Amino acid sequence: AEPPPFRNEPLLDFARAENREAMAAALRKVESELGRTYPLILDGRAIETPDRLAESVDPSRSTRVVGRVSTADAGHADRAVAVARAAVGPWSSTPAAERAAVLVRAAAILRRRKFELAAWEVYECGKPWREADGDVAEAIDFCEFYAREMVRLAEPRRRDVPGETNVCDRLPRGVAVVIPPWNFPLAIPCGMTVAPLVAGCAVILKPAEQSPVVAAKLVEILHEAGVPKGALQYLPGEGEEVGQALVNDRRVDVVSFTGSRPVGLLLNKQAADTPPGQDHVKRVIAEMGGKNAIIVDDDADLDEAVVGVLQSAFGYAGQKCSACSRVVVLEGVYDAFVARLAEAGKSLRVGPAADPDTFVGPVIDADAQKRILEYRGVALQEGRVVLDVDVSEQARLGSFVGPLIVADVAADARVAQEEIFGPILAVLKAKDLTDALAIAEGTSYALTGGLYSRSPVTIERVRREFRVGNLYINRTITGAAVDRQPFGGFKLSGVGAKAGGSEYLLEYLLTRSITENT
Ligand code: NAD
Ligand code: ALA
Repeated sequence: AEPPPFRNEPLLDFARAENREAMAAALRKVESELGRTYPLILDGRAIETPDRLAESVDPSRSTRVVGRVSTADAGHADRAVAVARAAVGPWSSTPAAERAAVLVRAAAILRRRKFELAAWEVYECGKPWREADGDVAEAIDFCEFYAREMVRLAEPRRRDVPGETNVCDRLPRGVAVVIPPWNFPLAIPCGMTVAPLVAGCAVILKPAEQSPVVAAKLVEILHEAGVPKGALQYLPGEGEEVGQALVNDRRVDVVSFTGSRPVGLLLNKQAADTPPGQDHVKRVIAEMGGKNAIIVDDDADLDEAVVGVLQSAFGYAGQKCSACSRVVVLEGVYDAFVARLAEAGKSLRVGPAADPDTFVGPVIDADAQKRILEYRGVALQEGRVVLDVDVSEQARLGSFVGPLIVADVAADARVAQEEIFGPILAVLKAKDLTDALAIAEGTSYALTGGLYSRSPVTIERVRREFRVGNLYINRTITGAAVDRQPFGGFKLSGVGAKAGGSEYLLEYLLTRSITENT
């Protein structure tokens, strides 16, 4: 039977007592399961590497071990690619509708385990409740959406003329190596994995070092849903070691990466190499960072703009590629906006992610904390402090950084140009809309962007001129919804089709044209 049309998974309403209680119960259950060990999954077999265990810790309380994970080396990568190659044939011969049904079953399991998976994200990645729920919902969306898209794409395209039949069909590219980041620990690995799988590719998933446990749950769910063992393997480990071995393997067809710009550019360059014995050019999808700006027009609803900017800048402690890290304010409302932003910023609730009232949790780990604190020093030099939230109490237990807003920042300042990936927001003044657009576009990134304005003329101009991958008007600039807002950037923010959009599956498919003279 035809599946019902795609609909985004609704978010949980934590104002309802039953949802709050279910989440609290899931947190208690998951807490009792912390500290377990997780093997590699290679050719369907669990492989332990007891002398190479990596610890995943809770960023809200750094002494709490979420899990101990076996880590793969180059030898495991070599075997996993051989297994994946062998798996492509049988898996891609499975009708597309059956592969799609596997994704729909996976979505059902994700839905059933929604609270539990969100709780794992709270502990492993310091995601506050709402952010964790949003991430699980997005993972469900990716499964449901790509399942339907594949059924559509699998329908051969016919263009017959008298004496000649013409058909285009789709073939999987082959073996896909998937290298995601930690900041959407379920949704991003899930989307990047199920898209090639439903296209008929075999996948080797190398999760981020900071979130291997959530990724292990994903792999378990996909296998339970019916993905053949050889078609999906789980190789946690260091990017520089197992990641490099996978990316540089000649038998790999697709390198799908989401993460920082330096790594994305490196993988793009490496994947372009065609050493002797390699008979194809690897396809690269590299979703990279952002330095996203919201423009506040001088007729904007400042109450809405303040809320939207704070949510976009400090949701998940600013650790979203889509986060607002610059707000560009027109001169006429600059002082009023900065004053209101500073006032409203004082009520941001900082705390451990497991606390239901927390809006800003910890940053992912001590390395990130150190890097962001260095930028804090730069920000204090480059701007005037208008909000500086003290988190010394929380920082005794975990990797916390207090939300910081600096105003009067120059467009070429480091904090206005470099991706910080933390809770630091720069405010810049613009003379007029032309100046604001020039500032907003004046970085080498072009991922998300926003505008608050009540003027139809301004809105129309910004729609026409602001070149970013995802442009949002009079709303937050994070939280793109699968299908409704396909996600991905321009310039050095990324290469490849947008995630959660119709073109994404084509990255993993070859189109073949077959003509028969009749
Ligand atoms: P990262 O680049 O440090 O790591 C991402 C992944 O790459 C990890 O799995 C890591 O192990 C792997 N890796 C690192 N070095 C490697 C190497 N030499 N060879 C192979 N693999 C390697 O990024 P991160 O800190 O995990 O994530 C944060 C970054 O991700 C930010 O820049 C953010 O903007 C970006 N991001 C982008 C998007 C998007 O859709 N554009 C979404 C989320 C995050
Ligand atoms: N897709 C995520 C967002 O839009 C990164 O916030």
